Amino acid sequence: MRVGLVQTDPRFGERRRNVDDALALMEPQRADLWVLPEFFATGYQFLDSAEAARLAEPIPEGPTTHDLAAFCRSNDCCIVAGLPEAAPDGTYNSALLVGPDGFIATYRKIHLFALEKTLFRPGDRPFSVCVARGARVGIMICFDHLFPESARSLALLGAELLAHPANLVLPEIGQQTMAVRALENGVYAATANRVGTESRAGKVLRYTGQSQIVGPRGEVLARLSADRVEVGIAEIDLARARDKSITSHNDKLADRRPDLYTPPGAA
Ligand code: ACM
Repeated sequence: MRVGLVQTDPRFGERRRNVDDALALMEPQRADLWVLPEFFATGYQFLDSAEAARLAEPIPEGPTTHDLAAFCRSNDCCIVAGLPEAAPDGTYNSALLVGPDGFIATYRKIHLFALEKTLFRPGDRPFSVCVARGARVGIMICFDHLFPESARSLALLGAELLAHPANLVLPEIGQQTMAVRALENGVYAATANRVGTESRAGKVLRYTGQSQIVGPRGEVLARLSADRVEVGIAEIDLARARDKSITSHNDKLADRRPDLYTPPGAA
């Protein structure tokens, strides 16, 4: 299976241009599953919840789901990409999975970062895994990386590949944690981050790029630059993500001792 990363530098609020730029980067390449950044079509720094709501789209009815699904149909591939989602009860920081037959699934970010808490509703559905091109794919978004429970939940549900749209701004954090998440769960992880700076209402954010695909031992299979718009592709072997053995006596998931861990719901 070929997994592709699309590392973009979106212009805030210019949906048509941002989507076209991302599709143009993918078009000459071949991948089974592409991962695009968080909020790849809109940019990240919404000034307030009204602006986030104005730029949000219903999923799957909105234009970006439509554009991505059309690309998947023409290019026989799947895409995971981040979007602000307009839902009947508010706006979510979401990622969708589409394929040649159209919409497959949405994930709503569970762990909101910084001012996202003032802009979006926190994800209201548990982590889940879906099948794309024969791979069991679990979606998590950016800051979810800092909570080991995100990747662990997906691994326990059978995920073989973590698709991780991101807008990482804290130096190195995210790239390092995702290598550990892949290692501790024995899965592949594809983080698509953006590059560039975004300045809105006097606040400048600098995105760290270095989108990466890591393997089940935490090994880096592809890592992009810190500052260029580009794509990266790695061939992955899903059988490696199904083998959780560490030694002949140890297994990354079966050796857990949940009976001795903090009970669910405890502080
Ligand atoms: C982040 O969650 N966008 C840092």
